[in-house]
Parts: sequence; C-alpha cells; structure tokens
Amino acid sequence: MTGRRVSRRGLLTGGAMAAGGALAGAGALTAVRSGPPGVRPGDAVPVAQVGSAVEPFHGVRQSGVTTDPQAHAAFVAFTLRPGTDRTALGRMLRLLSDDAARLTQGRPALADTEPELSVLPARLTVTFGFGPGLYAAAGLDDRRPASVAELPAFGIDRLQPRWSGGDLLLQICADDPLTVAHAQRVLVKDSRPFAVVRWVQQGFRRAAGAEPGRTQRNLFGQLDGTANPKPGTPADTAVWVTDGPDWLRDSTTLVVRRISMNLETWDLLGRADRELAVGRRIDTGAPLTGRAEHDEPDFAALGPDGLTVIPDFSHLTRARVTDDRQKILRRPYNYDGVPTPEGTADSGLVFASYQADIARQFLPVQRRLAERDLLNEWTTPIGSAVFAVPPGCPEGGWIGSQLLG
Ligand code: HEM
Repeated sequence: MTGRRVSRRGLLTGGAMAAGGALAGAGALTAVRSGPPGVRPGDAVPVAQVGSAVEPFHGVRQSGVTTDPQAHAAFVAFTLRPGTDRTALGRMLRLLSDDAARLTQGRPALADTEPELSVLPARLTVTFGFGPGLYAAAGLDDRRPASVAELPAFGIDRLQPRWSGGDLLLQICADDPLTVAHAQRVLVKDSRPFAVVRWVQQGFRRAAGAEPGRTQRNLFGQLDGTANPKPGTPADTAVWVTDGPDWLRDSTTLVVRRISMNLETWDLLGRADRELAVGRRIDTGAPLTGRAEHDEPDFAALGPDGLTVIPDFSHLTRARVTDDRQKILRRPYNYDGVPTPEGTADSGLVFASYQADIARQFLPVQRRLAERDLLNEWTTPIGSAVFAVPPGCPEGGWIGSQLLG
C-alpha cells in the first residue's frame, strides 16, 4: 500500500493520486440481535437463515434505532394531504402499524397483493418518525419536542427541497432489498388516502454476513461508526428520552441529512492526506496516534514537525464528543446514484443520527463541523429533515397512540 507523505496544505488543494485498498475477507456468518427459532439474540445467524431472521415490532421502544443495522434501507418521507387531521392520522397510523407488525414478523399485510414477498422478513424493521408538520396537522404543537424543528442553516449546506423536510417518515430496513421494496410498496399504498410521497432515499451497507460484527465502510473507504455509543453502555442512554409524559418517554429523535461525497476530488488525494482529513487510518480505522480501531485518540501528541499528529481540523477532532450523555448514534447508509455520462459519481451518505435531544446533542457537533472540518472539502449536505421517533407500542397497539389516541 503506498502512502505518500503530503503537506497539510495539500489536503485542501488535493494532489497525490489515490492508493488502492485491499479489503478484509468476507465471513460466513452475520451477528444479529434476534433471529429464527433456536437462535438467541446476539448469536451469529448462519447466512442460510438470514432471510428468516426476525426483529421485534412490538415493544416499549421502536426497533430500527439501536437494532444492529441491516444491509439495506429506504427512508420514505411523506407530506400529509390537506384534511389529514388528528382523527385521520389515527386511522393512518393504525393501518401502517398493522402492516408493519405483520411484515416484520414474516406475515403478509392485510390484502397483500404479493404475499409470497412477505415470508422472508430478513430482520425487517419499520421505524416511524413524526415531522413538525404532523404535530401541526393534529393540532398538537404543544406536544412537539422543542428540538424537532427545521435545523438552522449552515454555511456548508446546499439543500435541495427534493431531499428535505417531511411530515411523516418510515425508515424501512432489512437484510434483503426485495423485502425492503415490498414493505415500501405496501406502506406507500396504504398511506395514499392520507399522504403523498415527498422523497425516498435508498441506501446500503455491506451484505449480511460479509463482515460480521465489523464497523461498516462508507464510499470514501473509511470505517464509519467506530465511536458510536454501544448498546447497553451509559452512552446508550443518550439515545432515548427516559422521562416525561407517555408520548415522550422512550422516544428519540432522528436527523436525516443527505450528504453528497465528491469521489472525483477524493480520488486525487493520497492515502496520507485522506487519513489526516479524518484523523484515522483508512485500513484499520485506528486513530493516527494508535494501532487498533478502538484505541483512544491522543489529541495532544505532537509529530516531528511540531504539529499535532491528529490535525486540529480533522473530522475526528471536530466531531469528538467526550461526555457519554451528549453522544449521538449514527446509523448512516451509503447511496450510489447513476453517474453522469462522463462517469462522475453521484455518491454519498444518507446520514441518519438518533439522539434524545437534537438541540443538546446533534447541533453542537454539526455547528463545529460546519465551522471547520477538513472533510467539508469533499462533502456537501444536500438534504435535511428532522423527526420525533415516538415510543413503541404493545401487541394490538399502534405507533403514535400515546400522542394521538
Ligand atoms: C459524508 C459525511 C460524513 C462522513 C464521510 C463521515 C465520516 C466519519 C468517519 C470516517 C468517522 C470516524 C470513525 C467513526 O467514529 O465513525 C466519523 C466520526 C464521527 N462523525 Fe462523521 N462523517 C460524516 C458526517 C458527519 C456528520 C454530519 C456528523 C454530525 C453532525 C458526524 C458526526 C460524527 C461523530 C460524532 C463522530 C465520532 C467522533 C468521535 O470519535 O467521538 N459526521 N465520521
């Protein structure tokens, strides 16, 4: 692997040719949190059983947040039709919850026109998010979490309406893209009387079983997700609202940002520059001051040139959150659209982050990154949306019942 030393100035101007990368070998098993009969949560599920693996739908909290990320996702945002009021919203959410409850468990939805497509849930989760407009339509603005409001404008933003906003979001994830497509079709059809599709963003990670238990890579080749709070640790509590009225307790919030990644100019960078931009090694994901992915970065360590080994404006330094309670849970998916006729890529990240409070947790990080982050040279936010993710529901219940019922 060639790693040309390049000046930090080179980081901002580009220069060295990219080095190729050998990827780690593929494994045969995938680790999941719940699975087919006989497989306990947390066990590895044999690839042959990936299709039949199941995630719960009912529960105190919605699935699809701390669920081990599935390989495929569709984020579907809706605009409510005029006249979809509190009563109509109740009807819609009862219907969509029933669809999701069946499909996630490998059963056809009511009046499913392709019931054969429902039998392999492949860990399907359907996660509901409520945009600011839903609270307004229901006449319940006073129950909207204060931070669920359009984000402030950032200097780096080039937002396009076709990727932004939304009154209702369905985040549909599964390890099989056919399962995702079918669930999306059923849910979109059943929402027709109440809402129109505003945007759909599809994304992917490594196939189930390709790299069990490993941090995913984005299309820059970086390990993306290393410093995420781990389920069951104190930082995990940063994700969920743990008190308040029943429509808030066990809820969370979701920020979806479509961030285009300029692979053309990234291609011009050498490996050393790429690593300085993020502050971590491309191959292992280790901080530039460490050897292994999960080594603690040393932001004070100086190199022979007297500069910090991890640049002060690296993504790692700027995004760093040390207080566990302030962390965000990133659950991004890669997107890869159709290149231009000249071959210019249309690639990036459907960046999705969960946190108890957007204003307290997400915004300080986003502000620091917008102000100064070496990665900004190659990334551009082109879409933005925020949602409250209400609590889950028991069997026979429906998502949103605590708010609207
Ligand atoms: C295309 C855009 C982006 C890319 C390619 C990217 C990539 C990365 C990479 C490679 C890491 C280091 C490994 C890791 O801990 O996951 C990282 C860390 C992180 N990123 Fe990003 N990121 C992007 C956008 C964002 C945005 C928009 C935010 C939040 C506003 C964000 C927040 C973070 C945080 C909090 C960390 C962990 C920092 C720590 O070590 O404490 N990133 N990102």
